[in-house]
Amino acid sequence: MDNQQLKTSEEKTINLYNKAYSENYRAYDEKFITEPSYPHFGGIIRKLSASFGRSVSVLEVGCGTGRYFHCLQNTASLTGIDISEHMLELARHPLKEEEVNIPDIQLIAGSVYEHDFGNQQFDFIYSVGVLGEHVPLTPSMLDKLYKLLHTNGVLFTTVVNLDARKNLKRRLAEAAYPMMPQRVRQVLDERWKSNYLTLKQLKALMVSSPFSNYDIENYISEDKGWKGGHYEITARK
Ligand SMILES: C[S@@+](CC[C@H](N)C(=O)[O-])C[C@H]1O[C@@H](n2cnc3c(N)ncnc32)[C@H](O)[C@@H]1O
Repeated sequence: MDNQQLKTSEEKTINLYNKAYSENYRAYDEKFITEPSYPHFGGIIRKLSASFGRSVSVLEVGCGTGRYFHCLQNTASLTGIDISEHMLELARHPLKEEEVNIPDIQLIAGSVYEHDFGNQQFDFIYSVGVLGEHVPLTPSMLDKLYKLLHTNGVLFTTVVNLDARKNLKRRLAEAAYPMMPQRVRQVLDERWKSNYLTLKQLKALMVSSPFSNYDIENYISEDKGWKGGHYEITARK
């Protein structure tokens, strides 16, 4: 994973989440509550934030429009970071705003890779549709997330399941790849560059990360807005 891939991914993300796209995203939040992924992800965030049995500090990485803020339980403070200033602006009035019951909310415009959180630590960190999707999940990001957690803190993040996105043509090309000329392989390497991860790649990343206690689940979304597979990592410090 090179730095260039991260820079390119971030530039693409900033261009994508412009004012118009962000407003559409926020409008879709209202429809999203009828999709199966809403109770799925909302339920996980509710359950994990409530699992401490006391009030907690929370960080959302790539919080976007704040779609899940209202699901947080027992939350004394919430920090949301997002690289798109337009998405972040809309997070000031998120979905089900009247149910958001958090005394202290800080919204930070910037990249989670670059932002210096100083000595801050959190009980619960979550991220949906960001890492291993818009930007790569790198070993240094896993190190950073680990350091950002308090002891006994919990991380929940999704990663797009690359295995589920490979069609038959891609699988056949991969099988033939070792026999292909160097020039063709280079073209395919470029075309296949992705932030998405196979289970094998994800497991290798987690094994070499500071996390030793984690689960990886596979979730297939049947939503009208986004059909596909996500790996879900729940990791404890
Ligand atoms: C698919 S949206 C998900 C938003 C929110 N998590 C949700 O589930 O509705 C992806 C978000 O990640 C943000 N993002 C992408 N790369 C980022 C980075 N390096 N640092 C912070 N935010 C980032 C984008 O700006 C966008 O708001």
